[in-house]
Amino acid sequence: MTNRLLFSLAVVVSILFQLPTAALAQQVPVSAGLALTPPMGWNTWNKFACNVSDELVRGMADAMVKSGMKDVGYQYVVIDDCWQVSRDKNANIVADPQRFPNGIKAVADYVHSVGLKFGIYSDAGSKTCAGRPGGLGHEYQDALMYASWGVDYLKYDWCNTLPDQDAKASYANIRAALDTSGRPIVLSICEWGKNQPWLWGKEAGGNLWRTTGDIQDRWAGQQKWGDGSCCSNGMLDIVDQQVGIGSYAGPGHWNDPDMLEVGNGGMTTTEYRSHFSLWTILAAPLIAGNDLRNMTPEIRDILTNKEVIAVDQDPLGREGRRVAKDGDLEIWAKQLRDGGRAVILLNRGSSQHEITVIWEDIGYPNHLSAAVRDLWAHKDLGSFTGKFSAPVDSHGVVMVTIRP
Ligand code: GLA
Repeated sequence: MTNRLLFSLAVVVSILFQLPTAALAQQVPVSAGLALTPPMGWNTWNKFACNVSDELVRGMADAMVKSGMKDVGYQYVVIDDCWQVSRDKNANIVADPQRFPNGIKAVADYVHSVGLKFGIYSDAGSKTCAGRPGGLGHEYQDALMYASWGVDYLKYDWCNTLPDQDAKASYANIRAALDTSGRPIVLSICEWGKNQPWLWGKEAGGNLWRTTGDIQDRWAGQQKWGDGSCCSNGMLDIVDQQVGIGSYAGPGHWNDPDMLEVGNGGMTTTEYRSHFSLWTILAAPLIAGNDLRNMTPEIRDILTNKEVIAVDQDPLGREGRRVAKDGDLEIWAKQLRDGGRAVILLNRGSSQHEITVIWEDIGYPNHLSAAVRDLWAHKDLGSFTGKFSAPVDSHGVVMVTIRP
């Protein structure tokens, strides 16, 4: 009798204690805790556009491992636009049977088999930007399909949306659909900054959001698209559009100044080093966009510079900002978790110039002595008080950490 009573009591107590836990478990979405540092990976678009295939993606996953990129943190292999051709009679999305003869799941399985994660692309409108079937009205159906294929990352574009389609609601909807699948999937919002996604992207459940129109592989200068609409951006045009929105980024939710062009041939090695450095100081997602199967050693060294990547991936998750500008000479600084600063001296001009960072501009008192380390030369430069100066090549950067 006493035993039975004790047992019943134990059951009641355990139910009472489990209830709040169960209720809590329902509220925490499966995607919570994703992208605590900016996502790193590779995407087909910048180099291959619609020329995507099973073979290309497998080759790039292999190259990510072989080149050492996986070892320094690159993880997601993402197929952008043009993998999809139609919907079947049940409205399920259909992959291009010529380019993906074994279906998308086979590619995802391969990417997973080499220890990487797999991403895919769709669009919040009726069609993607390249005119393939979009996700509008099929969000839950598509999310379940993606999850069944083993998708870990979804880039969701904004072409061919309805004139009155609400961006925040649309992205919250696809996030809810992805979470319903039970698979943790990173959501990359791609509406080009049109509706100020930094104001609502986190609440909508986005892990990153594009802040601008597309990047193109050049140092600077906006250019009109073929249809006369405005505009693609050079690298520096994108950088300039990041000023003032840094405080909206943080662990799990990042400003995305678009994917990297490093290695695609339109800039010099010096310029690519600047491009990569600036993306890391911006705590930007590092999504390479070049052909990883045949990189020059210089390009590989840029993409795999651990000391520079550590600035991007610093766990504090603070986005850096422009702290000083004098014509073509700029200083960018990012606070690090250990109290140090990562600093870029950037020379946008056409001849070499000395640039000086003063401690006051990076939030240190001028009497402070601090150790300076050059992250591209991999060299300790010694202790400095109040300021640090270095000659900076045209279109180049000097990137250092400064630690009291
Ligand atoms: C848009 C996006 C690009 C790319 C293309 C694909 O332009 O901004 O990043 O995904 O669509 O068509």
